[in-house]
Amino acid sequence: MSGSQDFTGRVAVITGGAGGIGGATAIVLARRGARVLLVDRDRGALERAATRVATEADAAGRVGVFVADVTDEAQVRAYVEHAREELGGIDAFYNNAGIEGAVAHITEYPTEVFDQVIAVNVRGVFLGLKHVLPGMIARGRGAVVNTASIAAATGLAGSAAYGAAKHAVVGLTKMAVADLKDSGVRVNAVLPGMIDTRMLRALVEQLVGDVDEGLAAVAGAAPLGRVGTPFEVAEVVAFLLSDAASYVTGAEYLVEGGALATLDNGG
Ligand SMILES: NC(=O)c1ccc[n+]([C@@H]2O[C@H](COP(=O)([O-])OP(=O)(O)OC[C@H]3O[C@@H](n4cnc5c(N)ncnc54)[C@H](O)[C@@H]3O)[C@@H](O)[C@H]2O)c1
Repeated sequence: MSGSQDFTGRVAVITGGAGGIGGATAIVLARRGARVLLVDRDRGALERAATRVATEADAAGRVGVFVADVTDEAQVRAYVEHAREELGGIDAFYNNAGIEGAVAHITEYPTEVFDQVIAVNVRGVFLGLKHVLPGMIARGRGAVVNTASIAAATGLAGSAAYGAAKHAVVGLTKMAVADLKDSGVRVNAVLPGMIDTRMLRALVEQLVGDVDEGLAAVAGAAPLGRVGTPFEVAEVVAFLLSDAASYVTGAEYLVEGGALATLDNGG
């Protein structure tokens, strides 16, 4: 692809790169010419994702993997250093790794699960920003997208930890933008709704029991009448990471089929 969404010669790092949305974003960016580094804590899934990127984006030689836990500062520093030393720095950073935690009323929410969700979804996003941004600031350019959720924009029953964490991701996005004044670096958030990945299937299984029945039930919450695909999020992320979004920073992009545009938003 040529033009303002061309990533030829650019380096993109994607956390949660072995997952549904991260993996789809890797394919979209690689198809547009990027060299991609997939970061995840799950080595087996990472290798499968890298093979898929190489095949589907015809990107053999432009896709690498790095095993890291985004909650561990030394491991975050290690993937950032790897990207700098082996790939010449990071142009586009998709700060996306996340976990769903439990579905439980706030009065019964397990405290240790609350702590885990905050560790991955807030501390992980913070550490990514902390260690990726210095290289971008030094070069005077770069773009970051953080993955929040519709749970950053409304209440969702049973989602105390996840919703609090995703509100914090939007908060971190705005704080980073404020800190990045005059730097040339952009940071935005994407707020997916119901997207068909392992995470959504795990959530509807907890809620409804049967996955297919659960997916059919949540599909009705969006005016578009269906759940979204990981590629429908990836397209928006790729836009935000590209020069086509050169005047977009601090934004919250909903990718949720219109669910929040109606009063009956399933909350
Ligand atoms: N699927 C949805 O409906 C939906 C909706 C809104 C937001 N999101 C968000 O999108 C992002 C991607 O989720 P997904 O739907 O692709 O789910 P997914 O489970 O397929 O992908 C998440 C990935 O993050 C990785 N990960 C988890 N903890 C990690 C850690 N500590 N260190 C490194 N990697 C870790 C997992 O191994 C997995 O590969 C998450 O932040 C999620 O909260 C998803």
